[in-house]
Amino acid sequence: MQNLGHAAGPPWRRSGGLGTFRDPPMSIHRYPDSHVFYRKLARGYPRIVRGDGCYLYDDQGRRYLDGSGGAYVVNVGHGVGEIAEALACQAGTLAYVSGTAFTHDAVEELAAEIARLSPGDLDMVYPLASGSEAVEAGLKLARQFWVESGRPQKHKVLAFAPSYHGNTLLALSASSREPYRTYYREWLIEIVRVPAAYGYRCECGGSAPLCPACTGEAIEQAILREGPDTVAALIGEPVGGSSTGASVPPPDYWRRVRAICDRHQVLLVADEVLTGAGRTGTWSALEPYGVVPDVMILGKGIGGGYVPLSAVVAPRRIVDVLAKGSGVFLHAQTFSHHATLCAAGVATIRYLRRHQLIERCAEMGHLLHQRLQELRALPGVGDVRGRGLLAGVEFVQDKATRRPFPAAAHFADSVAAAAQDLGLVVWPNSGQLQDGTGDLVMLAPPFVITEEQVGELTALLSQAILRTVTQLEAHR
Ligand SMILES: Cc1ncc(COP(=O)(O)O)c(C=O)c1O
Repeated sequence: MQNLGHAAGPPWRRSGGLGTFRDPPMSIHRYPDSHVFYRKLARGYPRIVRGDGCYLYDDQGRRYLDGSGGAYVVNVGHGVGEIAEALACQAGTLAYVSGTAFTHDAVEELAAEIARLSPGDLDMVYPLASGSEAVEAGLKLARQFWVESGRPQKHKVLAFAPSYHGNTLLALSASSREPYRTYYREWLIEIVRVPAAYGYRCECGGSAPLCPACTGEAIEQAILREGPDTVAALIGEPVGGSSTGASVPPPDYWRRVRAICDRHQVLLVADEVLTGAGRTGTWSALEPYGVVPDVMILGKGIGGGYVPLSAVVAPRRIVDVLAKGSGVFLHAQTFSHHATLCAAGVATIRYLRRHQLIERCAEMGHLLHQRLQELRALPGVGDVRGRGLLAGVEFVQDKATRRPFPAAAHFADSVAAAAQDLGLVVWPNSGQLQDGTGDLVMLAPPFVITEEQVGELTALLSQAILRTVTQLEAHR
């Protein structure tokens, strides 16, 4: 494996956690030495100057394998010229028109492409920019549908714990991620919580006989407790994102959930922001379950990372109710249906299709999961799971009891920092468990990853984990 420039040593000093590395070199940017209001104010940032395929390069010539596609976004890889050209061409043709007054080729083509790929009767597409916005819009659509159907008492939303649906206030309300909610609790609306099918952490441990969380029974109990007449929608991630570390529910799970929703007239909203656009080896992660949701939310990968793009996808039977009623979907945003964003989405989807990248994602996913099994032998690794090119590695202090590391150890962040230092980007997540503990890292490399790069990813992650364990032991 070629790893340019990392011999010079760790590039920044982390604050907190285990990994206190060396002083930052000049190429590191940090608060308050820049005008950028960085997302993290206690760390430094290497300056990335370009990306190519699965690799990123910083201004010091260091190379990083993008093992998580940033935040699960870069599915077609960096530096795809034809996507860049498509969006430049669209921007050169038309800057902006309001979606309230005009339509244009880019949005018509994007809607047709997404409708063609989406399962069942999902064929109406409302484009937005971020996943959080689309979650807000999808839940509002569910609510508006019931009001306009003459059933205004249906207003409650069910969502899983743990889960993540975004950071705007309705999306954050739906999210069961306590650290993000702390300062804003008073502003959040009440959501009915049901336990997620998080096999590694639920009562049944993921094997038969399954517990109510893994059969979906917990959902039906919650609906009956709340009163089916008051429940508008259930929102869930078909395959877990960071919150459950790529947990894959049992094969029957979503069929049962679909039946429960049908029985009680609850709309099933599939949050495919992270899992959609091919990430788990099929266009949507629900597909292998043979289930069609009432509303599907897409984001992240549909723009390939070239633009922020998301979408609410719904069937005509829902949109018809609005059309015959108020005649408008009450979710106005200036930048919905934006031409440049839509053009990049069209180019990304066509690139995925032309190069059969979703099929490749499934194929390389098998290889990735095979290789990642090696990590199970390492100290601190409790579980490895996922589907397609989405994987989660959950860390525990005690493998037999599945006891997590103390939150103060910042284990996942330390693994991610060590990985970045070694030239690998992974996505850390911590605090997903009820008591604020829980550590995992997520992998979601571009679909163009090669067999050799899968080997490189596994080797670097394994080194990062070992380095973190060694540091933790040294601090005891
Ligand atoms: C499942 C899921 N839904 C929604 C969101 C929110 O998307 P965004 O960060 O683009 O607002 C995310 C982001 O990570 C996500 O993973």
